[in-house]
Amino acid sequence: MERTFVAIKPDGVQRKLVGEIIGRFEAKGFTLVGLKQMMVPKELAEKHYEALNDKPFFNGLIEFITSGPVVAMVWEGDGVVASARKLIGATNPLASEPGTIRGDFAVNVGRNVIHGSDALETAQREIALWFSEEQLSDWTPTMMPWIH
Ligand code: TYD
Repeated sequence: MERTFVAIKPDGVQRKLVGEIIGRFEAKGFTLVGLKQMMVPKELAEKHYEALNDKPFFNGLIEFITSGPVVAMVWEGDGVVASARKLIGATNPLASEPGTIRGDFAVNVGRNVIHGSDALETAQREIALWFSEEQLSDWTPTMMPWIH
């Protein structure tokens, strides 16, 4: 089953958008298989964004991501990588459609609330970078006999 990595950035946590964002992924029908709030070590932030390390905004991005708690998640479901990107919206929130998370809650590319893996291989890399195997639950909602 396909999985993707999603992180609510420090601005999203500060603005109390965690419940709203998790609710959107749940309502869409995806399954939460990993969740933790953490301060991000600088080395992890730099590894996560290593493809961007020659960009002029790189240092500011690392400073921002390490500035406060991040909520890291793994979501599972059919087509979840591309679908999560749709739920999240375009990188620049001014170009994100209303109805998307960035379109509804952000105006600044440097404070765009949420991250989502951009492709299947990136998702696999990012999940392995942020989560150990024991931190992920291997389950499907229909396995639970008490849910009707
Ligand atoms: P990128 O991987 O291009 O976008 P996305 O997060 O949608 O996959 O960029 C990573 C983050 O870098 C982006 O979410 C916000 C930040 N960023 C800037 O601060 N300025 C910029 O001009 C760009 C392109 C990104």
